[in-house]
Amino acid sequence: MTAHPAGLPGPDAGPRHVALIMDGNGRWAQARGLPRTMGHREGVQALKRTVQAAPELGIECLTVFGFSTENWRRPAEEVSDLMGLVRAYVTSDLNRLAREGVRVRILGRRTGLPSDIDAIVERAERTTAHNDRFLLQVAFNYGGRADIVDAAQAHMDRVLAGEATGPITEDVLEAGLSTAGSPPLDLIVRTSGEQRLSNFLLWEAAYAELIYQDILWPDYGAEALADAVRQYRARDRRFGAVAVAPALAAG
Ligand code: IPE
Ligand code: IPE
Ligand code: MG
Repeated sequence: MTAHPAGLPGPDAGPRHVALIMDGNGRWAQARGLPRTMGHREGVQALKRTVQAAPELGIECLTVFGFSTENWRRPAEEVSDLMGLVRAYVTSDLNRLAREGVRVRILGRRTGLPSDIDAIVERAERTTAHNDRFLLQVAFNYGGRADIVDAAQAHMDRVLAGEATGPITEDVLEAGLSTAGSPPLDLIVRTSGEQRLSNFLLWEAAYAELIYQDILWPDYGAEALADAVRQYRARDRRFGAVAVAPALAAG
């Protein structure tokens, strides 16, 4: 691996921040003749395994796609199942996450969510706010385009209120995104064989590496994540510059 402008070459270079598009729950269930909701249930177990494995691989931050702004197009029953799983995950796992030093942050729009989810999300963030061993960002009711629009709107509101001046810059916009303050995104992993972003982290993806793994999300865990990290470390990240051959660099 060539030198990262802001880091060391080789395994020490990361990835620090990995995003996961957890896809394939429905197909996992279908292959077993089970209702889709069982796939989502198993998907939560896979998420728990993966979050536990991440720090040992040197990862500092995981951002996972739980529910997109487009997932409202699914049948009402499935939407309500997915909301129920967030309730269950946070309620059953919050204490453990808090104990293990995980800070939980929820990305995405709060409007339109059931009011108890709003309270649960707020509690998860408050209870873990002081933790700094690991950052878990859960994108829920999240869309990359909506996030960029919200950041631009927030800046415009501040300008109109006389609290800010000047044009929108990359720094201003980035500071308004829901991922502001997390490490730069190094890697996006999508499971299930689909190869698209589906409106996830559009801004942050600019120079992230993309890895597609042919495994359905409920089957994911430590081994699959380690394999993604291995693939990432074999990549050559140039950030628009040219790779410098070691012999030339030495001379
Ligand atoms: C991903 O699995 C989970 C969410 C979108 C919440 P899917 O439900 O998209 O599973 P497939 O793609 O239909 O197999
Ligand atoms: C993306 O998966 C959203 C989540 C994983 C939460 P989808 O399954 O909704 O994406 P598409 O419809 O295949 O693009
Ligand atoms: Mg899917």
